[in-house]
Amino acid sequence: MTSNKHIFTKFLLVVVLIQLSCINALANKNDWYSTAIKVSEAQLKLAAKHYTPGQNPRSISPNGLIRYAHPRDWTCGFFPGSLWLMYELSGDKYFKKQAAKFTEALDTVQYFTHTHDLGFMLFCSYGNAYRLTKKKKYKNVLHTGANSLISRFNKNVGCIRSWDFGPWQFPVIVDNMMNLKFLLWTSASTKNSKYHKIAISHANKTLENHFRKDNSSYHVVNYDTITGKAIDFQTHQGYSDNSAWARGQAWGLYGYTSMYKETLDQNYLNQALKIADFIMKHPRMPKDKIPYWDFDAPNIPHAPRDASAAAVIASALLELSTLTKAGEVYFNYAEDILKNLSTDKYLAKAGSNAYFLLKHCTGNLPNNSEIDTTLNYADYYYLEALKRYGTIKEYK
Ligand code: GLY
Repeated sequence: MTSNKHIFTKFLLVVVLIQLSCINALANKNDWYSTAIKVSEAQLKLAAKHYTPGQNPRSISPNGLIRYAHPRDWTCGFFPGSLWLMYELSGDKYFKKQAAKFTEALDTVQYFTHTHDLGFMLFCSYGNAYRLTKKKKYKNVLHTGANSLISRFNKNVGCIRSWDFGPWQFPVIVDNMMNLKFLLWTSASTKNSKYHKIAISHANKTLENHFRKDNSSYHVVNYDTITGKAIDFQTHQGYSDNSAWARGQAWGLYGYTSMYKETLDQNYLNQALKIADFIMKHPRMPKDKIPYWDFDAPNIPHAPRDASAAAVIASALLELSTLTKAGEVYFNYAEDILKNLSTDKYLAKAGSNAYFLLKHCTGNLPNNSEIDTTLNYADYYYLEALKRYGTIKEYK
């Protein structure tokens, strides 16, 4: 048993090393990619030294102070997740050590039942930790967290409830599509299909009610808990109920792409392709492909951009490019986004920007919160996209 475990650990190490040497080889070939990796590595090394576990940097406030994500914050898992991704990209064991410390400081999150964001909070931190180390203690946290997440499922509605605040009977936001991969993984890991069934139910109900004729999505759909019918279609972070909030479109694209990858259900692929079309052909997408915070923002071209939406779109499109015959068009679009995000306009210089990577992100404009700033989830999806890009290029 022990010797099998030993052989498996060695095998895992060899796989990681081969992947890293491929990515490093590419970094030597390609200027913008090489710069992006080097700057990100330098920034994250400084950040890991500067910040303390449990105190995850989230964004920079207008007064220059750092906003931290405590464990109850939906963004708490992104900084530990970024450290794991950087360990994968660089092979530097320092990042592994630091990633473990920042991850383990989120131990209480697995018990939270007040939020649907456990996919973001746990799968980016503990999910990457388990993927890269195969340590049982991380797997146990994920299993407990998945049980907390499904405690929010309502059979009448067929969805996981998003928020406990606000005027809605049963709010479901498009962002919630991002938590489903965590449940699919849990079913495979526990060999219990209940998590999988809940994820499918949620994805199908969202498919029914969240999308408009033009394939853009509402942010919030409010359901009647007795009849299960959708009763209100609104926004919380977008410009208006009928507008296309950029990050919401990005969450939908990413969510249905990963649902297709895990289930091979053609309906999910069709939806992902339609969302991609909406985004890529939008007349108000700027030339550099970094969207305004809302495609219907009133003051375009002077509206703030959202580089976090761009990073999520890039990562999703790279995944999509590997799942369809016409993948090149998605790959090329994602490459353009990544090249542009890696210019001085969006990527901070090493040592600056409180050690965050990307600039010009917008969190919640209607709430006057985190406008044209850095966001830890922008950095996470940027790194994930860089990793996916490196892997795809090497196979070509
Ligand atoms: N899930 C919240 C957001 O995208 O801002």
